[in-house]
Amino acid sequence: MTAPQLPTPSADALLISTTLVERIRQRIEASNGWISFTNYMQQALYAPGLGYYAGGATKFGDAGDFTTAPEMSPLFGACVAGTAAHALRHIEQGRVMEFGAGTGVLAAEILTELERLDCLPLSYDIVDLSPDLKQRQLTTLQTRVPHLVERVRWLDALPEHFDGFIVGNEVLDAMPCALVYRDEAGQLFERGVVWRDNRLAFEDQALHSGQLFDLASALDLPADYLTEIQPQMHAFVRSVAQCLRQGALLLIDYGFTAREFYHPQRNQGTLMAHYRHHSLIDPFYLPGLCDITCHVDFSAVYTHAEANGLQLEGYIPQAQYLLNTGLTQKLEALGIENTRQYVSAAASVHKLTSPAEMGELFKTIAFSRNLALPALLHGFEDGDDSWKL
Ligand SMILES: C[S@@+](CC[C@H](N)C(=O)[O-])C[C@H]1O[C@@H](n2cnc3c(N)ncnc32)[C@H](O)[C@@H]1O
Repeated sequence: MTAPQLPTPSADALLISTTLVERIRQRIEASNGWISFTNYMQQALYAPGLGYYAGGATKFGDAGDFTTAPEMSPLFGACVAGTAAHALRHIEQGRVMEFGAGTGVLAAEILTELERLDCLPLSYDIVDLSPDLKQRQLTTLQTRVPHLVERVRWLDALPEHFDGFIVGNEVLDAMPCALVYRDEAGQLFERGVVWRDNRLAFEDQALHSGQLFDLASALDLPADYLTEIQPQMHAFVRSVAQCLRQGALLLIDYGFTAREFYHPQRNQGTLMAHYRHHSLIDPFYLPGLCDITCHVDFSAVYTHAEANGLQLEGYIPQAQYLLNTGLTQKLEALGIENTRQYVSAAASVHKLTSPAEMGELFKTIAFSRNLALPALLHGFEDGDDSWKL
């Protein structure tokens, strides 16, 4: 689908996209004419120098393609810092690790609030697949918290063991997914990508065995049903769970439990592309210039974390988490003297918590290991929906 009203990319940006499409075409040709959608999404988002997250696209904020919670309001990071502080106070020499740190704004806000709470971590470790974002993160941190930058480390891989607080906001949805289709007759197919009539197109291949077949079979999908499964996200959760020796893990993203995700009425899945604040259903629109995402199956997150020794602390909608961590008090503390600042902050708070915006669709899930907390992890005191998982 090419919507005519979409903003036209610059000539440089178009060149990146056409170069990436040619690379993908060659990859398809070298794979006997078909690649999995996972493979396509991996290239579209992470191909070195060309993929959406691996190239120079603006991505975040008004000039980019989407706005995430930490970009919307510094209060979001202050709330997350409250949970971090609670965990860090029960760990000797704890660190913070953030996955997919975006522009670095969440890191800056968490560090600012942890300093205010007199609870700074030994280090703030960032793990991101995006090399161009690392520079942006450094610039943000140098501008906002110059005296704390020396605590920040960029890691290329997960450490063997980690003691502290781990956070990832909107990271799971950016992990390549597989597309699975179950036809009227009940046969399972993996939906992949081919080069047809001079363009990228979908094509299904029958699924008879293997990991994806097993995962899809276990879901007992209705007939004539298209959906996503994220084996890479499952593997990521397993690795993070294994690496956390003592501490807490907090993941925030849009999604639902498996029962809601694989509901018979959601028969076209949740795959979406984002381009300059437009949501598109065509994942082949300007590869490299568009974000591609799917919603997160939080039941799968829970299953893989728990199977690897983590204890569930809670699963709640983002609005409830932010209220539990004092979002409204933090807004109030800004004071209404600076009306312009207050109105803008209040509008962000509304967006973050309204059920019609991010409040209900976004969920917060937390786990712990070897953390002797005298009470529930801060942020999960009220409104826990864990029973739904
Ligand atoms: C939608 S952005 C969110 C950025 C930021 N957390 C925010 O909320 O503004 C997704 C980020 O996750 C990163 N990412 C995806 N898979 C990752 C992985 N396995 N490890 C670390 N970062 C990853 C991407 O590179 C990208 O920077």
